[in-house]
Amino acid sequence: MSTLLTGIGELVTNDPERQGDRRDGPLGIIERAAVVVEGARVAWVGAAAEAPAADAVVDAGGRAVLPGFVDSHSHLVFAGDRAEEFAARMAGTAYAAGGIRTTVAATRAATDEQLLSGARRLVGEMLRQGTTTVEVKSGYGLTVRDEARSLAVARMLTEETTYLGAHVVPDGTTPEEYVALVTGPMLDAAIEHARWVDAFCERGAFDADQARTVLLAGMDRGLSGRLHANQLGPGPGVQLACELGLTAVDHCTYLDDADVGALRDSGTVATLLPGVEFSTRQPYPDARRLLDAGVTVALASDCNPGSSFTSSMPFCVALAVREMGLTPAEAVWAATAGGARALDRDDVGVLAVGRRADLVLLDAPSHVHLAYRPGVPLVAGVWQFGRPVLGGA
Ligand code: NIG
Ligand code: FE
Repeated sequence: MSTLLTGIGELVTNDPERQGDRRDGPLGIIERAAVVVEGARVAWVGAAAEAPAADAVVDAGGRAVLPGFVDSHSHLVFAGDRAEEFAARMAGTAYAAGGIRTTVAATRAATDEQLLSGARRLVGEMLRQGTTTVEVKSGYGLTVRDEARSLAVARMLTEETTYLGAHVVPDGTTPEEYVALVTGPMLDAAIEHARWVDAFCERGAFDADQARTVLLAGMDRGLSGRLHANQLGPGPGVQLACELGLTAVDHCTYLDDADVGALRDSGTVATLLPGVEFSTRQPYPDARRLLDAGVTVALASDCNPGSSFTSSMPFCVALAVREMGLTPAEAVWAATAGGARALDRDDVGVLAVGRRADLVLLDAPSHVHLAYRPGVPLVAGVWQFGRPVLGGA
């Protein structure tokens, strides 16, 4: 069964072979375009006037189509909410890593079914806003049993699952004892459900030596590494991530020149999470500086109940443009192809023959509207694995 999606006013392909010297160069845009989807894959991409026939035809009516968003950083498996903590912050209280413990208590008390239905609801919310690939972390269980069941829940929703036992040291244990648990029995229980290993390298969480121990233990067992670093202040995390050759290092809010140089030299993706700065009233990371230095930048939501309870990649794109110095084209690339790089994936984030048919139809003539019309529900259609999951015309 093949479907021709035609009448596309602007098609964002992110295809390196189509990248020209236009301002929106990284997006590899084709105007008056069409896409043929066959099964779960893209079978043809090009000018509508040259499109081949297909079993079914859908007309986009001159609107824009882009690859589904790739949200490479989220914490969706949790119970409870922290709206009061947010309200207090907006009244002047500072954000601190310790708030995580509030969610840990609620998560431990929840059943597997409650955790799954909460996470599933958020994945649905994401899908309706155009996110077709999402990474989900554990990290609110912090016992062998609760980390393992958090990851088992995450695995029911995505293949991009991350073991974040090293989120914070729980009450009633020492950092040394806890790192031994995270790298021992907890890792044993987590491993079958996880693709990635992560740690929160920050004051109030884990220092560089502890984060290195956790990452190396996971990588030794075949997991790939990613790291939370330099979120709340300057620190050693970004350079640790680069030294270990991790795929991505996330937050990157406080960077010095050596951090930027290390990112450029290692090729580690810098994943920026502007929902966090929005929700914690912190300064935004300087995305312009990173791009100008030649660093690969991704955007992600960091959807979690504490520091960023947004599931919206369009919102993150708008923030990145308004607050972080990116052009609309750079922000859309970072939220699609950049997210795919941050997950080491080449089947998503790009619309080209053979890639996954994950597409978003905007109720707008161009990608620019994602930042130009902030807060407006522009996602009119979503296809995932070639199937319409929202709208469809
Ligand atoms: O990515 N930085 C660490 N973890 C989350 C925050 C978690 C929380 O506050 O519950 C983050 O921002
Ligand atoms: Fe996070």
